[in-house]
Amino acid sequence: MMDAAQRAAPTDHGDAELFAAFTISATVWLLIATAIGVLLSFKFPYPDLATNPYLSFGRLRAIHTNGTFYGFASVALTGVGLYVTARSSGIALWGKGYAWAALWCYNIAAVLGAITLDLGINNGDQEYREWVWWVAIFFVAAVVLSAIAIVGTIAKRTERYIYISNWYIVGAYIFTTILAVTSAIPFYQHGLGQVAVQGFYMHNAVGMWFTFLALGAIYYALPKLLNRPIYSYALGVLGFWTNLVFYPIIGAHHFEFTPIPWWFQTLAIVFSVGMLVPVFAGTGNFVLTIRGRWERVRRSMALPFIVVGIAYYFLGSSQGTIEALRSLQSIWHLTSYTVGHSHATMYGFITFVAWGCIYGLLPKATGKEPSSLAAGLHFWLATIGVTIYVIALSIGGTIQGLNWAQGDPFITSVESAAPYWMARSIGGTMMFVAHLLFAYNVYLMTFARRKPNPGAIGAAPA
Ligand code: HEM
Repeated sequence: MMDAAQRAAPTDHGDAELFAAFTISATVWLLIATAIGVLLSFKFPYPDLATNPYLSFGRLRAIHTNGTFYGFASVALTGVGLYVTARSSGIALWGKGYAWAALWCYNIAAVLGAITLDLGINNGDQEYREWVWWVAIFFVAAVVLSAIAIVGTIAKRTERYIYISNWYIVGAYIFTTILAVTSAIPFYQHGLGQVAVQGFYMHNAVGMWFTFLALGAIYYALPKLLNRPIYSYALGVLGFWTNLVFYPIIGAHHFEFTPIPWWFQTLAIVFSVGMLVPVFAGTGNFVLTIRGRWERVRRSMALPFIVVGIAYYFLGSSQGTIEALRSLQSIWHLTSYTVGHSHATMYGFITFVAWGCIYGLLPKATGKEPSSLAAGLHFWLATIGVTIYVIALSIGGTIQGLNWAQGDPFITSVESAAPYWMARSIGGTMMFVAHLLFAYNVYLMTFARRKPNPGAIGAAPA
């Protein structure tokens, strides 16, 4: 039986324009934020590089993380999310004006955020919420405006049921709104309360925003591109609810061995183990959907990105469970190992899924195909680059932690990690070159005047 992802009607022109605009905007931020990432990475092996305050590590690091999170990944996945919601609801997007206003707000937040952080104006060392409140408010407005368009579209759907993708997408918007409000409540902004809220915020920004949006996108794109229904709707629902049960508590695993109550830390560890349930349910569902169609994956431009995304979802999330155990956290906490984990998940999983969905769905919306050569090079440079990045920091970070545990002088840990930081810069440079190729393909899929090529290899069935 066909599901909502497989049924197709021509894309509404306005929906295609929106999808293209969100993708172009996200790509600009990907280039800016990761050019900064490459510079940051070279500051580790060459600490005297670019020491001007405006180019200092402390300011640029926050611009990189907020730029990748809110300028790139949020906008790319919202663009995909708006398109997926409309398509799986069987109508053109309702409330396009809200969606355009959201795109403006995302960009105002990202521009003001980058400028203020570089001027040293910030909210203190609150990871991923370093923006001052009058900048962050534009981001919250963007989330609410996108949510209005998405919920309004689902409410007007012609499909009888709400397709599983939309559970995840709507879940992301509802939970992120709660998250934004909770993290702004003033009486938790000091002392231990602040630490607990910080753990809640930073981990759920990843888990309930990016993870939900990416999973929702896969639940649409995978059946669409494979031209078969998702293996199990029930596994999708199980993944949704267990994610919702376990994720909100696990943030405290970032603060083990701190004055946060011991029982709360233990609860965070237990729930981190519980996260294996949604991760196994989701990964199993996706792999079983693909089974027997690997030839189609091999011939596709988009599917390999989604497959790498699923693999990193499984590896990165399972790694997170293991990392939360106290015995291992005592070695890895505060080392570069954690940064490897962040890029396994935010890059290997989230970014690859966003690319896969864009390559798979944008040409269907605009009727313009990307270059398969550029997409192939993009795929291999990014896959090899991020794998070098993650492996180098996993090894380097472990040695760093062992040096500290042995009580070696701090400089010994710096000397031991230095070659691995250099390897990270090499992997990071490959990733950045991949982003330039992606930008070229985004140009071909949007602005370029080219003949539509519906029969291209990898084009998903209409
Ligand atoms: C060319 C690609 C990239 C390079 C070279 C790069 C490099 C870096 C560097 C050098 C840091 C600072 C690490 C430290 O403090 O030790 C960092 C942090 C971070 N980056 Fe990237 N990055 C890239 C892409 C991305 C993307 C696309 C995302 C998200 C979508 C991302 C998310 C993060 C996060 C979350 C952190 C904080 C890590 C933590 O503290 O655990 N990065 N990155």
